[in-house]
Amino acid sequence: MTASQIRQAFLDFFVSKGHTIVPSAPIVVKNDPTLMFTNAGMNQFKAIFLGEEAPKAPRVADTQRCLRVSGKHNDLEEVGIDTYHHTMFEMLGNWSFGDYFKKEAIAWSWELLTEVYKLDKSRLYVTYFEGDEKEGLAKDQEAYDLWAQFVAPNHILPGNKKDNFWEMGETGPCGPCSEIHYDSRPDADRKEKDGAELVNGDHDQVIEIWNNVFMQFNRLRDGSLQPLPAKHVDTGMGFERLVRVLQGKTSNYDTDVFQPLIQFIAEKSGIAYGKDIKTDIAMRVMADHIRAISFAIADGQLPSNNKAGYVIRRILRRAVRYAYQYLNFKEPFMNQLVPLLAQQFDGVFPEIVDQKDFVQKVILEEETSFLRTLDQGIKKFNEISTSDVISGDAAFELSDTFGFPLDLTELMAREKGLTVDIAGYEAALAQQKNRSKVAATVNAGDWVVLRPGDNTRFIGYDEYQSYSQILKYRKVVAQGKEQYHLVLDITPFYAEGGGQVGDTGQIVTEWADERTGPIVFDVKDVKKENGLTLHICDLQPTWTEAGEKPTVLPQNMPNRVNAYINTGLRMLTNANHSATHLMHAALKEVLGTHVAQKGSLVNPEYLRFDFSHFAKVSEDDLVVIERIVNQKIMEDIPLEENRDMLYNDAINAGATALFGEKYGSTVRMITFDANFSSELCGGTHVKATGQIGFFKITSESAVAAGVRRIEAITNAVSLNFIQDQSKMVDDIKGLLKNPKDMTKAIAELLEENSKLKKDQGKALLQKASGLKQGLADKAQNINGINFIAEMVDLPTADAVKTLAYGIKDIVADMFLVLAADIEGKPNLTVMLSENLVKEKGLDAGKIVRELAKEIQGGGGGQPFFATAGGKDASGLQRALDKAKEFLPK
Ligand code: ALA
Repeated sequence: MTASQIRQAFLDFFVSKGHTIVPSAPIVVKNDPTLMFTNAGMNQFKAIFLGEEAPKAPRVADTQRCLRVSGKHNDLEEVGIDTYHHTMFEMLGNWSFGDYFKKEAIAWSWELLTEVYKLDKSRLYVTYFEGDEKEGLAKDQEAYDLWAQFVAPNHILPGNKKDNFWEMGETGPCGPCSEIHYDSRPDADRKEKDGAELVNGDHDQVIEIWNNVFMQFNRLRDGSLQPLPAKHVDTGMGFERLVRVLQGKTSNYDTDVFQPLIQFIAEKSGIAYGKDIKTDIAMRVMADHIRAISFAIADGQLPSNNKAGYVIRRILRRAVRYAYQYLNFKEPFMNQLVPLLAQQFDGVFPEIVDQKDFVQKVILEEETSFLRTLDQGIKKFNEISTSDVISGDAAFELSDTFGFPLDLTELMAREKGLTVDIAGYEAALAQQKNRSKVAATVNAGDWVVLRPGDNTRFIGYDEYQSYSQILKYRKVVAQGKEQYHLVLDITPFYAEGGGQVGDTGQIVTEWADERTGPIVFDVKDVKKENGLTLHICDLQPTWTEAGEKPTVLPQNMPNRVNAYINTGLRMLTNANHSATHLMHAALKEVLGTHVAQKGSLVNPEYLRFDFSHFAKVSEDDLVVIERIVNQKIMEDIPLEENRDMLYNDAINAGATALFGEKYGSTVRMITFDANFSSELCGGTHVKATGQIGFFKITSESAVAAGVRRIEAITNAVSLNFIQDQSKMVDDIKGLLKNPKDMTKAIAELLEENSKLKKDQGKALLQKASGLKQGLADKAQNINGINFIAEMVDLPTADAVKTLAYGIKDIVADMFLVLAADIEGKPNLTVMLSENLVKEKGLDAGKIVRELAKEIQGGGGGQPFFATAGGKDASGLQRALDKAKEFLPK
């Protein structure tokens, strides 16, 4: 079976068991602060497990692109070195949301592996959870009994919490699990040692292929386990490992998942795969890493200097270093793998095919910039890697100056049998960071539940105010500041999403203390987190009669509140959001259909829109885009809003969907003129385009390779802007005495100014050369040296310098000191003929420093010419008098 047949067989099998196939979520996680990247198939269902969101279907299956390079699940160090860990991998999964449980999950996994894929039963081992006393968890006897129907007892193994209790992260859904392992060793080896002894023992031929998790708990921040509202099944099968087992290979890299990439790398490097372990590892790393990088970029994460962007940058740099050092790729090469990858995933994950050029361009740019310093970095590394430990400062310099991420330095150190002083590195990094800000630490308390339920109904498309119930609240301390998170049953507040910022406003309790009045929350922001709509609030201080300020909420928090948004700001945001749609359509019209949204920010002040486009947008094009948008505004096109549309219907109606966005089966479509702009969008908008007011682009710039950014303003903000500009023009006109043609008047003024400057320069030179002969004549011959120490009247230090050089041309054996008062600032210049420097050991720099003491200053220069400035012009004469002391005796 080919890899794609194997994938299809999995999906078909679970369809036959009543499952709905759903699309993979993007690899970059947007609304879960506990996670940067999708690390398991279940991530997109987290809110369902926690009971915060209702499932669309009780049984689903998919293949999910995952990345395990940070956080709780991190395999990066093994990748390429071994043959069965990857950065990006596909996880085949089936889920039951409160529907079937262990019995079906176990029976079906056995059926699929042994009857559909026809794996050799004698090579399969299964594990079950042995229990954990500390956690108060019993052994999973049920799983054991279910397995015992199919599997011989000596192939059913108990496992501890580390291997058989699966957790998504530090907090979140978790439960006991049951793994399936495959022993692919030759028969002779199997006879010698039973596979059961090698399960979970890091043996590269006895590997886990599938994990069945029985989700039953939520791990809370305090470490305790809270039972979930229902029991669920969450399974994950490593696709690349399954393919390897089914294709009878001993390495994932030998399958048709990786071979096309590896053979391409081998061909271009002129080195065969399988010849040498070092070059093999390099090829594996490259073939593996290109997948992670490409999918992250396609899902909207550009390489950058922090957070998720830095993880991607690190992975790419790791690959580039291998390519450079082991396969001699001195020019950018990784990007050339993208077309091959796109082809491979066509029809599975179309994101890469659809954005092939963009992804390739971003990688090319990133490689090019790293290669610029890589060579020097490697040299530097070799210089510093002389003792057993690479110092923290050296590792920091490698990262700061040469762009070597710490893990790359560690990897290179390991290759040489050295270690890195991580604590030292971190200290150096912390020192640098100290200069910026204290790290943001957020400490969230547990929820106080006032009413059952987690769902917040958003009514803010139509209403700006509501009487709501508080479902739950918690106190949060972030950067020393106390805030409250409130979850309401219904809300008019828009939660940040789709680039639009959250609404601000107030939530006021209906209940009022007779002395302090109601409790007033200032809503600073609204965010969605794991399916919860969090109203992030400052508690407005209230005072009792005695003047004390309550710092905590009353024990029995009254839960009926009046919630209202700041409508003025919302109107401005609406205008910017609708203008963003109009501009997006105009960009496609003017620049071409390759324009795809790469980022967006919509707030009351302005809009910012990032999009794929390979060149600067010309001024002419910007003018046209601005005109089109304003034309559409003047047409006063009414908003057409379709709140509940099938995804496919919307796409067929021509709606623009975004890459890296997770859409449900039903979507909201926003249209302004069906022939002009239709987008899938959850944001808020104007009722008709006329409300946008005047649209003005304020800047166009580059954000990254192949990504441009336009910022623009609308409504009251653009009006203010235009009025300010207009006033400024009037002011300038007034200063210029109302010329007919202002541009011409300014050009003339500038020209006149530069002519005057030139004339002044010439006059100065003339003056200086006039002084030259007079000063030369003043030379006193002292012991064969022509000594001159004089005060000169020149307006710039440059003119004094010119004069000094001029005198040197006509006086030999010269010791010259010039003093000048340049607009109140004393200046000293010492000039010596070369022979005095060479033969008499005089040094103008030393002399000028000594003389400068008289003018309370300092200076320096070369041995034959040096200058000094100072504070006290009255000391100039003293300096001249003192100069003689430096003549050789
Ligand atoms: N969520 C489980 C895992 O990732 C299936 O292993």
